[in-house]
Amino acid sequence: MLELKDVCKEFASSEGSVVKVLDGISLKASAGDSISIVGPSGSGKSTLLNIIGALDKPTSGSVKLDGTDFSKAGDKQLAQIRNRRIGFVFQMHHLLPQCSLIENVLLPALAGGGKPEGGVHDRAVELLEKVGLKDKINSLPRQVSAGQRQRAAIVRALINSPALLLADEPTGALDAVIARETAKLLLELNRTERTALVVVTHSQELAGQMARKMTLSSGKLKADTE
Ligand SMILES: Nc1ncnc2c1ncn2[C@@H]1O[C@H](COP(=O)(O)OP(=O)(O)O)[C@@H](O)[C@H]1O
Ligand SMILES: [Mg+2]
Repeated sequence: MLELKDVCKEFASSEGSVVKVLDGISLKASAGDSISIVGPSGSGKSTLLNIIGALDKPTSGSVKLDGTDFSKAGDKQLAQIRNRRIGFVFQMHHLLPQCSLIENVLLPALAGGGKPEGGVHDRAVELLEKVGLKDKINSLPRQVSAGQRQRAAIVRALINSPALLLADEPTGALDAVIARETAKLLLELNRTERTALVVVTHSQELAGQMARKMTLSSGKLKADTE
């Protein structure tokens, strides 16, 4: 389903030299997979996740999702892939403050101009109930807790039933207990929705709960051996 081949990413440093952040990364993931990528700050985790999510382009190498090569897709097709096939969860929830939780969750279903498919409102309610936000559906983000906001952000990422859920430090801004609950929820949704989950984190505890554990270091991605 997801296939990265020999992905490299270089940035120009402020001194004018070239820094190779990703150096030949290959990775495959299929439906239902859960993968953690751990690495120190600055090791290129966010860069890698943004490339997987078609938010950034590799300097060389290829990324394919369901057979579509991102480098060969046009802007419109890429936008559609990002909206329909990929869900993103960040450290900060990025909910719109003026919209209720259910309005926030429904936004990706309205994007792209088309009418939302029938049943999407029901799906939003169902998912919000499933993550324990039944009574908060019409609340504004500031009226609920940090953990509840992140739950709503996770539901928003899943509303279009993406093939891939990408999470960049999803528990990084939460206290330990809430972080643990959020991790549990991500894994439960990974199982029930059959969405491949890729989590980037520097939390060993969060990483340890994923079926496949990998480490990013010096631009290389390696599978952890038990
Ligand atoms: N747009 C950019 N331009 C230049 N350098 C960048 C850019 N984005 C990231 N970098 C550099 O790439 C490295 C990896 O960054 P990042 O992917 O954010 O790491 P992580 O998420 O693991 O902390 C850092 O050294 C960062 O400064
Ligand atoms: Mg990062």
